[in-house]
Amino acid sequence: MSRVRTAFPRSSEITPRDVFDQRRSFLRDAGFVIAAAGAASLGLGARDAAAGTFSSARKGPYGTTEAPTPLKDVTSYNNFYEFGTGKEDPAERAGSLKTRPWTVSVEGECAKPRRWDIDELLKLAAIEERVYRMRCVEGWSMVIPWNGYPLAELLKRAEPNSRAKYVEFTTLSDVSQMPGQRAAVLDWPYVEGLRIDEAMHPLTLLTLGLYGDLLPNQNGAPVRVTVPWKYGFKSAKSIVRIRFTEHEPKTAWNKAAPREYGFYSNVNPAVEHPRWSQAKERRIGEWTKRPTLPFNGYAEQVAGLYAGMDLRKYF
Ligand code: MTE
Repeated sequence: MSRVRTAFPRSSEITPRDVFDQRRSFLRDAGFVIAAAGAASLGLGARDAAAGTFSSARKGPYGTTEAPTPLKDVTSYNNFYEFGTGKEDPAERAGSLKTRPWTVSVEGECAKPRRWDIDELLKLAAIEERVYRMRCVEGWSMVIPWNGYPLAELLKRAEPNSRAKYVEFTTLSDVSQMPGQRAAVLDWPYVEGLRIDEAMHPLTLLTLGLYGDLLPNQNGAPVRVTVPWKYGFKSAKSIVRIRFTEHEPKTAWNKAAPREYGFYSNVNPAVEHPRWSQAKERRIGEWTKRPTLPFNGYAEQVAGLYAGMDLRKYF
C-alpha cells in the first residue's frame, strides 16, 4: 500500500533533534522490532487474537453497505502515537500493551461513579456489529465493521448530574507499555472529549472489537470509543477513564495545535484544515479520490445536534 504523507506533525519535527535521536536508539536497544514481529505478521496484538468472539453479533443500526476495508489494512495502517508516528509502527510495536487486567473508571459529575472491569464491560449490553465509515483528518478513510454497543449504555448507569455538560476520555499512560510516550509529540496521556449529547448519541460506540474479534492492540485494545461523524482523532483508543465534566475538556490535539484541531472536529468538506483541503478523501485500497460527505455521511442522524451553530467557528 502506498504511504500517505503524515499530516500530523511527526515527532522529528517537534522534538528537539537530540531527544529524537535518543528515542530512536532507545527503541533499537529495546528490540521492539524483533519482539513484535510475531504479532505483527498476524496483523493482531498477540494477546487478543481470539477467533470469532463476536461472530454472532447482531447487525446494529446505521451500518453502511459500502465494502469494508480489508482486515489487513485496518490492522496495519494505523494512527496510535503511543507506539510511534509511522503508520506501520502500531502494528509492529503494540504487542507491548497489556490488555488484561484492565479497568475503566467512570467518574466526575455523576451520582454513581464506578470502576468497571473489562470483562464486565464485555457483558454490559448486547454486542452489535456496526459497519462505520471512518475519516481521518489526514485525508484517508476506511470502512470498518466494529463490535460494541452505544456508549450511552455505560454512561446512563453512572447517572450524570445536571453539571455534566461534557465527557472526557483518557488513554492509558504507561511509558513501559507505550514507548511512543517517551517522545514529546503530544502532552500525554492522550485526552479526547465530546459534548454530552454527542457522547449519548446512539451512533457513538463503546468499541470492544472489529471484524468479529476482540480489538487488536493497534486499534485501541481492549476498549475505545468510535465517533463516525468526526475526524478519527476524536475516537480515543485504549481508554482507562471516562469523566463527566462541567467545562469543555482540554484535548491532546487541540492543545498541540489549536488552529488545526478544533474541539468539535466534525467531518466537514466545506471547512479547510489550515494546511490542506478536506473536500476529498482517499479510501484505503482505492486510487481515485472521492468527495468527503458532510458529517462523514451521517448528517441525517447528527446534523440536528449542531442546529444554529456556526460550524466554521466551532470547527
Ligand atoms: N487514540 C490514541 N490514544 N492515540 C492516538 O494516536 N489516533 C487517532 C485515533 N485515536 C490516536 C487515537 C487517530 S488520528 C485516528 S485516525 C484513529 O485513532 C485511527 O484509528 P485506527 O487505527 O483504529 O483506524
